[in-house]
Amino acid sequence: MPNFTELLHHRYGTSSVNAELPENDFISSLLSHRSIRAYLPHALPLGTLETLVAAAQSASTSSNLQTWSVVAVEDPSRKEKLSQLANNQAHIRQSPLFLVWLADLARLSHLAESRGLPHEGLDYLEMFLMAAIDAALAAQNAVVAAESLGLGTVYIGALRNKPEEVAEVLGLPKQVFAVFGLCVGYSDRAVETAIKPRLPQTTVLHRETYKPASEEDIAVYNQAMQAFYESQKMNIPGDWTEHSAKRVAFAQSISGRDRLREALNNLGFELR
Ligand SMILES: Cc1cc2nc3c(=O)[nH]c(=O)nc-3n(C[C@H](O)[C@H](O)[C@H](O)COP(=O)(O)O)c2cc1C
Repeated sequence: MPNFTELLHHRYGTSSVNAELPENDFISSLLSHRSIRAYLPHALPLGTLETLVAAAQSASTSSNLQTWSVVAVEDPSRKEKLSQLANNQAHIRQSPLFLVWLADLARLSHLAESRGLPHEGLDYLEMFLMAAIDAALAAQNAVVAAESLGLGTVYIGALRNKPEEVAEVLGLPKQVFAVFGLCVGYSDRAVETAIKPRLPQTTVLHRETYKPASEEDIAVYNQAMQAFYESQKMNIPGDWTEHSAKRVAFAQSISGRDRLREALNNLGFELR
């Protein structure tokens, strides 16, 4: 594994962090993260799924309500269907394990009903947000655990392009929503992946009060991303600022997710 200074250089390019940082293997592993989009067909060792879920369940969870669940999909035909619903992304079919992370208010709703208790609070946007946050924290713990086992992962937000269809493929009850998927498997090392640079810390770290990003910092980042695209032989038109702006330009730019509120209502979330 590259040393800490090298990892920080990959992560920040020339804007690297200006401080002496304590080093350990755990943080090195976090700094080494990269999404993997090419997988070997190898099966995962027995117990991997359960280890990832134990790591996920060890994440903090709001009020210990544990308002999330995960569906483990290994069946090729189900992965194929989900891949088609998520912009036909090949890595969903290729990875041996596809985890779908759910905001799950159905369990709590059912528990309250089983005791004849009201559960009106579940109808509010707050509870949907809580469940989505819980699902994300759990999933990220699973990602970190997977990477520590030498596995690669990539999140699949495109699963939100067609929420009702995804719910049908997975047999989700009302008040359960697939927040994102996660491919898990052994990386095909023939396909090179690199650490993707992030914005300078001065852009995201605000001390005491918020300060808008400086143009110089963004320019430094655009240069770092340009170098990244070139090193990865990616033909990306324009710079990071331009294509990030394109990603949010219009309702149509968000891949069908402009109707997310309607989809959530259909799936039993009132979002009051
Ligand atoms: C919630 C979420 C959804 C994502 N959805 C997708 C996706 O649908 N397809 C994909 O290839 N990558 C997806 N990604 C991966 C991001 O593109 C990736 O994390 C980002 O470009 C930074 O690259 P890195 O993870 O290699 O550092 C997603 C990431 C997150 C956190």
